[in-house]
Amino acid sequence: MRIPRNVVERVRDTSDILSIVQDYVRLKKAGSNYLGLCPFHREKTPSFNVSPANGFFKCFGCGKGGDTITFVMEIERLEFVDAIRWLADRAGIEIPKTEEGKKAYDKRESVYEALRFASEYYVGKLNDPASGAQAREYLLGRALTEKTISRFSVGYAPDSWDGLIKAAEKAHIKLETLKKAGLVIERQDGKGYYDRFRERIMFPIQSHVGKFVGFGGRLLADNPKAPKYLNSPETEVYHKSTVLYGLFQSKRMARQEASILLVEGYTDVLALDQAGIGSAACCGTALTLQQVGLLGRYAKEIRLLYDADRAGAAATERAIDVVLQGGVAASVVSLPEGEDPDSFVREKGADAFRLHLKTATKDWVDAFFLASLSDNGFGTLHKKRQAISKVAQRIAYMKDDILRKMYVQKASQLFAISERDMAYEITRQASSNQAQQQPSQTLREENASAAPVNFDAISESEKTLLQLMLEEGAPMIKYILGNMAYDEFQEGPSQRLVDLLIETHEAHGDEVQSAFRSGKANADEITQQLIVDILMPRHEISKGWGAKKINVPRLNEKSKRIAEDCMMRVKGAVVKREIQRVRHEMMNAPEGSEDRGRLQKKYLNQKRYLLRINNRKLFED
Ligand code: CTP
Ligand code: MN
Repeated sequence: MRIPRNVVERVRDTSDILSIVQDYVRLKKAGSNYLGLCPFHREKTPSFNVSPANGFFKCFGCGKGGDTITFVMEIERLEFVDAIRWLADRAGIEIPKTEEGKKAYDKRESVYEALRFASEYYVGKLNDPASGAQAREYLLGRALTEKTISRFSVGYAPDSWDGLIKAAEKAHIKLETLKKAGLVIERQDGKGYYDRFRERIMFPIQSHVGKFVGFGGRLLADNPKAPKYLNSPETEVYHKSTVLYGLFQSKRMARQEASILLVEGYTDVLALDQAGIGSAACCGTALTLQQVGLLGRYAKEIRLLYDADRAGAAATERAIDVVLQGGVAASVVSLPEGEDPDSFVREKGADAFRLHLKTATKDWVDAFFLASLSDNGFGTLHKKRQAISKVAQRIAYMKDDILRKMYVQKASQLFAISERDMAYEITRQASSNQAQQQPSQTLREENASAAPVNFDAISESEKTLLQLMLEEGAPMIKYILGNMAYDEFQEGPSQRLVDLLIETHEAHGDEVQSAFRSGKANADEITQQLIVDILMPRHEISKGWGAKKINVPRLNEKSKRIAEDCMMRVKGAVVKREIQRVRHEMMNAPEGSEDRGRLQKKYLNQKRYLLRINNRKLFED
């Protein structure tokens, strides 16, 4: 559903970057800006800047930067529209909806509301001594603490066919909505509904932003006649292939560590969290590319920690393929035969488990090599050949040249073949990978558009000119663009920003700066990044600059001098390059020829022009 442009602007205007970032990053004041440890990459010295005056953040370590909306999109991993919603929600701004959109939105909200209600109901039943005593005993018997139970909103569905239905009725939640939420099942005879979950420990499944989307229900006692876990069906708000259990609770840890553990079960996530280790689990399905994409926003590496049994080993192999296809690093943590993370951490304790993680984590290629071996090595050469193909296929997913070379080296050593043969096999696999690529693989590429761009190629003087125009608006734009030729600015982002300045100046006149600040200027992604790069403190022109009022009615002499200085340098650099070129041509022209004479004249004129630039004889008001 589209959000009206003026609402987007209002959200942008009212959202205070400082208070939003501070929910995620500890910031210290540094001049007119704030400095902290970047939440998007791991670092020890702070290079993450927030400029409240400009409404921007920028990390000089990893290059990420943008406005409040970008920040929320990145940190909460939301699409643009949802980031606006998130901010509007926070600021208490109501988003008007079209009739149709409103209906659809309200319906979906009511499903979320029913799920949240159900979770509260199950938590209440667990806490109620009359209904929850046995379940509580079970959970505490599994060494889960009260804190963990409440952090994950674990609950209990009592032995009743209509407990939830009745409670929902009292709360004016429609049966229709319960059905949409997957919480009730229609009776065989078609006359009414009954609760889907009965006599089960309830693990609510939350999206990565904390919305309740479904449930996993575990039997209290192992009963071979009933399935151990009963899960919510797919609904309009629950898509198993895109959700990861526990990510909401572990995402901050994942970001700090730049890695996350992927486990099989709900109880594994809980036990690890209790030990201070962040993890997530797919809910009864195989890992998908979408899930890897989601995890990749928080962690650079996914460490697979599946149950130490045959099923776990097979799932690990499949998961490695998906993780590497998704462009994230993969490693494998092994456990003693028959254990799962939950049982292992309970037996050994948190510290021993952390130590185990350090010593038993292997790069996927080492883990794969070991897993391919049986008691008699590879058994047959055919088996070894197959294993080589598989390794090559995985290496072929990697986009980074150096990384790929490292893997070629490593894999050829492990499998005792030449690097050339390994590299050849990878090329072969790469073309077959490409042939079978699924459309969903474009996911990462879409994300890649948000990758930071490096603007080092634009000279500091040129950046300063752009900065002056952005900061001082109309009079400065007139002055600088009146004295600079368009192609004296560098081709690419710099010229695009000049275009944008001209357009916005034409459209908004003296209001040009506020148009930029409120997002009315139509900057594409790269230009937006250049603006952020330019307005950040690295380019602070003079002391107290940031504190200056945005509206400067007249050109002030000091900035005019700075502008002249920069124009002189930029023009000088352009002319110097030109002089070099002409000189080269001149030397190559035959002596005494007409060409040579013409070039000589040009050369001298340019020299004179350079002199004028250097003497500042060029600039007009
Ligand atoms: N699972 C499921 N349906 C089942 C069995 C398993 O959806 N019938 C999913 C659940 O998400 C479960 C995970 O697979 O958490 C792992 O299964 P398992 O190892 O059997 O369960 P644990 O999480 O280890 O649970 P417990 O320790 O209580 O046995
Ligand atoms: Mn398990």
